[in-house]
Amino acid sequence: MKSTLLLPAWASLALAGFDTWSPPGPYEVRAPCPMLNTLANHGFLPHHGKDITREVTENALFDALNINKTLGSFLFDFALTTNPVANSTTFSLNDLGNHNILEHDASLSRSDAYFGNVLTFNQSVFDETKSYWKGKTVTIEMAARARLARIKTSKATNPTYSMSELGDAFTYGESAAYVVVFGDKTTGTVKRSWVEWLFEHEQLPQHLGWRRPAELFQAADLDRYMQEIENITAGLEKPKPGGHRAKRQNSHFGW
Ligand code: HEM
Ligand SMILES: *[C@@H]1O[C@H](CO)[C@@H](O)[C@H](O)[C@H]1NC(C)=O
Ligand SMILES: *[C@@H]1O[C@H](CO)[C@@H](O)[C@H](O)[C@H]1NC(C)=O
Ligand SMILES: *[C@@H]1O[C@H](CO)[C@@H](O)[C@H](O)[C@H]1NC(C)=O
Ligand SMILES: *[C@@H]1O[C@H](CO)[C@@H](O)[C@H](O)[C@H]1NC(C)=O
Repeated sequence: MKSTLLLPAWASLALAGFDTWSPPGPYEVRAPCPMLNTLANHGFLPHHGKDITREVTENALFDALNINKTLGSFLFDFALTTNPVANSTTFSLNDLGNHNILEHDASLSRSDAYFGNVLTFNQSVFDETKSYWKGKTVTIEMAARARLARIKTSKATNPTYSMSELGDAFTYGESAAYVVVFGDKTTGTVKRSWVEWLFEHEQLPQHLGWRRPAELFQAADLDRYMQEIENITAGLEKPKPGGHRAKRQNSHFGW
């Protein structure tokens, strides 16, 4: 058994951060979110993945990714809605997998709830996503194409396909996030090797040169790139002959 309780407080610092990583143990829980899983594997979030507070969430997103704590708090409020216990002030990573609250069909690396486990990485789903990432650099346009392809595949194969307006907003946010939260918000790009490593290993790819972004990531950054993905997507979807384009979705979380 680990003797964590016998260590002085300062020693626990060594158990969390950029320099430590371990996969989840048998009684530890994880999410459909590759980034939150990564942060738990590094100990920025509790390694067991359970009973995560607002303050812990804000600090983890700030310490690991330089995300504005107000944005962290805003995301935490969404996470709370997935905890089935009324009035709870914490969430656990597996709560995020409760279908059709935040978790949605057409994920980039998880199968639809209809086909299997939404919490665990699914290689064949991710292979479809990756096939739209060409060259060494992933752009926002490639992210838009990958997102749209996953939605088309799910619609064509899943007889229970559904997508709420909130779920749809999350799809834009997630595709923007892996490019500009994890990658570079100035250029709107991310190294392909980094983002593949993130999804496939749930580890920050520091050995490939990834570092905590130098600039604070703001809600306005997310909003702008979500809108860019929406614009590109509208251009990719040709209106059906004699038909009308689907109602424009709100991609702004309403802030
Ligand atoms: C408290 C903060 C966060 C919450 C509550 C959250 C929640 C979620 C949830 C519920 C999903 C599953 C959606 C689905 O595919 O069904 C998800 C997926 C995802 N999240 Fe997070 N997330 C957070 C932070 C982040 C951050 C900071 C990033 C930065 C890269 C990120 C990147 C992603 C990506 C790329 C996906 C899509 C995975 C896929 O489609 O397979 N998330 N997140
Ligand atoms: C963080 O975001 C909030 C809300 O968007 C904003 O008011 C605040 O100025 C930001 N903080 C910093 C340090 O930029
Ligand atoms: C949750 O909070 C509401 C409003 O304060 C209250 O009416 C309700 O009884 C609470 N539920 C539980 C399970 O504590
Ligand atoms: C992975 O996803 C595919 C496509 O949705 C599905 O057919 C397959 O059963 C999934 N694999 C697992 C292990 O869930
Ligand atoms: C998206 O398109 C709208 C409407 O054409 C435009 O006003 C907006 O500037 C565009 N935004 C981005 C980020 O491309």
